[in-house]
Amino acid sequence: MPAFFCLVIPLAFRFTCYYYRKAYYRSFLFDPPACAVADPHHTYGGETRLPFVLNNLHRYAMYGALAYVVILSYDVVQAFAYNGRAYLGIGTGIMLVNDTLLAVYAFSCHSFRHLVGGRVDCFSCVRFGQQRHALWKGVTRLNVNHPMWAWVSIAVAGSCSWGARARRARP
Ligand code: FES
Repeated sequence: MPAFFCLVIPLAFRFTCYYYRKAYYRSFLFDPPACAVADPHHTYGGETRLPFVLNNLHRYAMYGALAYVVILSYDVVQAFAYNGRAYLGIGTGIMLVNDTLLAVYAFSCHSFRHLVGGRVDCFSCVRFGQQRHALWKGVTRLNVNHPMWAWVSIAVAGSCSWGARARRARP
């Protein structure tokens, strides 16, 4: 049961993701069904009431996800050492791929892009503006493919947990 609490941040991060929101609003709630297609609702409820108002907490879920990236990266580094020697196994490779994809998904997040480049009208007018601009451009490049990173990272994370469960179930 306590392990379930480890899922709170990743699930909050995924459910409140702008890309996933677009997908599930359109697919399951028809709100709206597509661009320029009228939805069946007469009044706009939007994200002003529970439970969808919680989607506004996305940036905080993102801070939590960034902490997970750091923790998982530490785990990956630890996994490459076994009995004081360098070690490389299938599990360590899978951990590395899983952590890398989660990191790319988190770094391509719209909120992360806003964190590094938002609230600035002029990069050359602020402290570390050049560095922030370079970082923002890199994040923007990742952000263009955010939907792809969302699907690839969740597919790999899902198969990793399925593989781990199958391995534990083996006699
Ligand atoms: Fe998708 Fe932030 S917008 S994770």
